[in-house]
Amino acid sequence: MTTVQTKIPLDSITIIDGIFKPIKVTIDGKHIEVDPRDRNIVDVATRSKIGIPAPCYRDEGRVGCCKGCVAEIDGEQIFACATKPQEGMDIVINRPDLKAIRKERIKDYMNNIDNGETCDCSSDDSSCCAPSQNGTSCCG
Ligand code: FES
Repeated sequence: MTTVQTKIPLDSITIIDGIFKPIKVTIDGKHIEVDPRDRNIVDVATRSKIGIPAPCYRDEGRVGCCKGCVAEIDGEQIFACATKPQEGMDIVINRPDLKAIRKERIKDYMNNIDNGETCDCSSDDSSCCAPSQNGTSCCG
């Protein structure tokens, strides 16, 4: 019997032999089924009660501005808010080196806000936006 796998527009659901299968990822060693409402890794972690700071995403609905949601996804450090969940992703959030990076970046972000600087993702400042490995535009 041949297995037919079809992806439908909802990125978090796969159809295998006519049966809906949720996408599964691993966060800090915990196996998680992605909810169709999860738009990115921050959403997946939050719904699974795994803490990850994401100030620009949560407070402003922006993506890629604060750089404070960095996680290691399949061995690469990228922004969790700019990364759609995909089947089998191995995600690390709670590790001392990642926590230290997030702490510094959020501190800088808060200082910038205090100084009246805002994230302008329409500018040529490429540091403002960092595409994920999945090609997700961070400042759409
Ligand atoms: S939440 Fe700000 S860059 Fe991801």
